[in-house]
Amino acid sequence: MNGKKRSPSTLCVQGTEAQKAGPAVVPIVQTSTFVFEDQMDMLDSVTGKSGKHVYTRWSNPTTRSVEAKISSLEGTDDTLALSSGMAAISTAIIGLVKGGERILASESIYGGTVHFFDEVLPKYGVQVDYADTDDFHDHVMASGAKYKLCFFETPTNPTLKIVDIEKVADAARATGTISMIDSTFGTPINQKPHDLGVDIVMHSATKYLGGHSDIIAGTLSGSKEIMSKIRSAAKLLGGTMDPFAAFLLDRGIKTLSVRVEQHNLNASYLAEKMVKDSRVRRVHYPGLPEHPNHSVAKKQMRGFGGMLSVELDCDLEAAKSFVDSLDIFLNAVSLGGVESLASIPALTTHYGLEPEVLTEMGISESTIRLSVGIEDPSDLLLDLMTALDKTC
Ligand SMILES: Cc1ncc(COP(=O)(O)O)c(C=O)c1O
Repeated sequence: MNGKKRSPSTLCVQGTEAQKAGPAVVPIVQTSTFVFEDQMDMLDSVTGKSGKHVYTRWSNPTTRSVEAKISSLEGTDDTLALSSGMAAISTAIIGLVKGGERILASESIYGGTVHFFDEVLPKYGVQVDYADTDDFHDHVMASGAKYKLCFFETPTNPTLKIVDIEKVADAARATGTISMIDSTFGTPINQKPHDLGVDIVMHSATKYLGGHSDIIAGTLSGSKEIMSKIRSAAKLLGGTMDPFAAFLLDRGIKTLSVRVEQHNLNASYLAEKMVKDSRVRRVHYPGLPEHPNHSVAKKQMRGFGGMLSVELDCDLEAAKSFVDSLDIFLNAVSLGGVESLASIPALTTHYGLEPEVLTEMGISESTIRLSVGIEDPSDLLLDLMTALDKTC
């Protein structure tokens, strides 16, 4: 490459090195175990001297290939691919935090993560405290050396709050705390948290990285030192990615850059149209100048992403019929695929929470979360407008 650094779209397709011979596409090495010529060869591999693969729970060539590609996109030494986003979160925490140590988490994080933090970790003596998302960095700084690890997400779900990544990373470094970000909504195309100083970058690769709603997967990226601790835990916890999922993940990432470009364009277009509609009370999108954290988003993001939430000027019943009236937007949870999805957080991710708690989180009964896909933006707008005409 004549010393020139590859751009993200090239890395998405080829990684750091183009294939010089053999298959053009990384083969699926669908095996649980690997064969050795003799005992010496086996021993050198088991002890890590030869670098050969031994057993797929430990490592696999297909998985290793996609891990290297993700490292090149995140700008980290190493990446570990796992069987889900939750496997990634739990493996990192178990690998790095021990009983008696504490975690500080931002209040706006994925519900599954909150359940893991509140229901599983305390059984093993790990306590998680929560701090306000808007000034999370100040809480990390003020905590001194009280916490082993701080965990945050940006942009957040479903109100698309933005946390200042660099400020959190700086505060964590100053207090000797490991910083970990769930960067699922951000994608490595729109934001590069490790470049801003974050220690561990995590993705639910089920979402944008995979991109086609056909795999469950998770990734962790970081320095050699941190990742070797996490890799040791992963070998024993066993949340290993299957080689076929690794193949699909690699195939998905080939188009990540162009997909994200279209997600960014489509969501921006819809946000700008919806914010002007009198039937819409509020639009949450970090690309809008009126978004409270727009300047931070502009500083740390290349594009503002494909996630958008709209609060309709109506009650829950009308919000339900709005979603049921949509034709192109599919009625499903999850996000980040090529197809557009719509869901009502009060009935899905945030079901059962008291109205006051929802209000505190900036969510109303009529808030609709849209995962904007890569379809034609005018078709998507027409779909939203037709549903609004029918219901609001
Ligand atoms: C932001 C975020 N993080 C983590 C997860 C968990 O990922 P997975 O479902 O791949 O385990 C999700 C799932 O929806 C998510 O939205």
